[in-house]
Amino acid sequence: MVSPLGLGTVKLGRNQQVKYPQAFDLPSDRAVRELLALARELGINLLDTAPAYGSSQQRLGRMLGAQRKDWVIVSKVGEIFEHGESRFDFSYEHTVATVEQTLKTLKTDYVDCVLIHSDGNDLAILDNQGAASALVDLKQRGLIRAHGMSSKTVEGGLRVVRDMDVVMATCNVDYNDELPVLQAAAEQHKGVLIKKGLMSGHVQGEEGVRHSFAHVFAQPGVSSMIVGTINPDHLRSNVRLLQQVLEGAA
Ligand SMILES: NC(=O)c1ccc[n+]([C@@H]2O[C@H](COP(=O)([O-])OP(=O)(O)OC[C@H]3O[C@@H](n4cnc5c(N)ncnc54)[C@H](OP(=O)(O)O)[C@@H]3O)[C@@H](O)[C@H]2O)c1
Repeated sequence: MVSPLGLGTVKLGRNQQVKYPQAFDLPSDRAVRELLALARELGINLLDTAPAYGSSQQRLGRMLGAQRKDWVIVSKVGEIFEHGESRFDFSYEHTVATVEQTLKTLKTDYVDCVLIHSDGNDLAILDNQGAASALVDLKQRGLIRAHGMSSKTVEGGLRVVRDMDVVMATCNVDYNDELPVLQAAAEQHKGVLIKKGLMSGHVQGEEGVRHSFAHVFAQPGVSSMIVGTINPDHLRSNVRLLQQVLEGAA
């Protein structure tokens, strides 16, 4: 069971080659600890991370400790971010090695969900590379509990819904191309995580945020919307606004 709002953790660990409207400094350890505690206090139980999010996993691994079991952790495979540049490797071997490293970095013996971080060629990755079958094997070994893809195309998203557990798709007030993926996931009872629901920070003001939440949660099948923030006031107001939207819809 995941909370309707998940915490995206790119900004905990990476401030290069990101598409946010404003440059930012990485938060201090104290600020990250306080943000995680606040998120839990507000009922958030979902953390979205990736090895490609700079020091995000390292920081979570150091800070979660005994509270690891209180969180549903989503991580990724496929993107490697080194020396300020991204590259991709969707091979079987790299996928297994990445998940094994993630377990060490997060100091845990399981990851709740691992997604293939698509570079845009969703179907080619699923058809011609070893990542998807590696994730199935890792599930059988008990190292991960669910698998899926952060996809970028409708065809890819539909395939993920057919063959995997969870799809991470983009949906926001300006971009609705992937709605058929959400519809299919709802029909097949698969997990749906929404990324970029606030247009990566281009939505402004409480009314803009409320409207974005209402738009996303009006769609079928949404399990959780992953919103990245390092601002505790934004976190508080996001939870409050989403609660109002969900109560209004009930
Ligand atoms: N797999 C992928 O391909 C992929 C790609 C992108 C993202 N993701 C995941 O999805 C998460 C969300 O995506 P995203 O970070 O691109 O987009 P997003 O959640 O739409 O936007 C995050 C931005 O919105 C700002 N924000 C949050 N709440 C706000 C509020 N109440 N008022 C004004 N601004 C607010 C944040 O700034 P402040 O810090 O100032 O609040 C941050 O810069 C990421 O953290 C990541 O975990 C995955």
